[in-house]
Amino acid sequence: MTVEAYGLPEHRRIVAASGLGLSTVPIDTQGATVSKLGDTDAVMLTPAHQFPLGVAMSPRRRTETIRWAADTAGLVIEDDYDGEFRYDRQPVGALQALAPEHVAYVGTASKSLAPGLRLAWLVLPAELTDEVVAAKARADRTNTLDQLTLAEFITSGAYDRHLRRSRHAYRRRRDRLVAALHQHAPDVRVTGVAAGLHAVVELPAGHDENHVIASAAQHDLAIETLNGYQRDDTPHGPALVVGYGTPPEHAFSSAVAKLCAAIRSAPLAPAP
Ligand SMILES: Cc1ncc(COP(=O)(O)O)c(C=O)c1O
Repeated sequence: MTVEAYGLPEHRRIVAASGLGLSTVPIDTQGATVSKLGDTDAVMLTPAHQFPLGVAMSPRRRTETIRWAADTAGLVIEDDYDGEFRYDRQPVGALQALAPEHVAYVGTASKSLAPGLRLAWLVLPAELTDEVVAAKARADRTNTLDQLTLAEFITSGAYDRHLRRSRHAYRRRRDRLVAALHQHAPDVRVTGVAAGLHAVVELPAGHDENHVIASAAQHDLAIETLNGYQRDDTPHGPALVVGYGTPPEHAFSSAVAKLCAAIRSAPLAPAP
């Protein structure tokens, strides 16, 4: 099983716990470098908005991915974790629609509603459906009431309205964060913000990202380093992954101000 060179540590742990061998595929400005997949049965990708780097997979790579799956009978697991939130570009179509027999699509309500709900959905190749339903039944019992409530939310049109409102609100937050960083921490570079609920903030070379994390934590801000999501041996320069969806509206401006202050206070990292 192959995962992207940057991603959620949980995914890596789940793969390891299932006893599968794990390899990584590097990411560049076009997304996962599918030509480097090597000998693997399955690959887990975030094509619409790479987590955490934020790039969208280019049309060429999407075609290469589908060709790889068709040529090798490999499985693509498409993790579309924040597909609802696109700001500066057209929504990216799901890979699953291009090759339904080779792609398992995974969506979640964790970003659009709340992670605590534990509601998500799969669109599976037909030949996997029975096996996955059985595995899910072994793993836990489904909360039918929550599912029916979500179904009602969707069919009534209220979910769509909620998404439109949230998209607008998150886009404004994204703009406020980028503008504040531009003004108060002009040496940083902000990337990956065309979609989703997080930004990658690259610090000037040599700056100590861990100092920023520690300083932010003193002000109750939970920020991660980009290197904390790294899964191979090619560390990135100092960078932060800043989620902007979490603070309540009344606390957002002060959270951004504290982040800028923490960045400005960062010394150069000690020489290795
Ligand atoms: C890359 C990625 N995949 C998936 C998820 C969703 O996980 P879950 O549905 O288990 O909350 C997240 C977090 O919301 C994520 O960042």
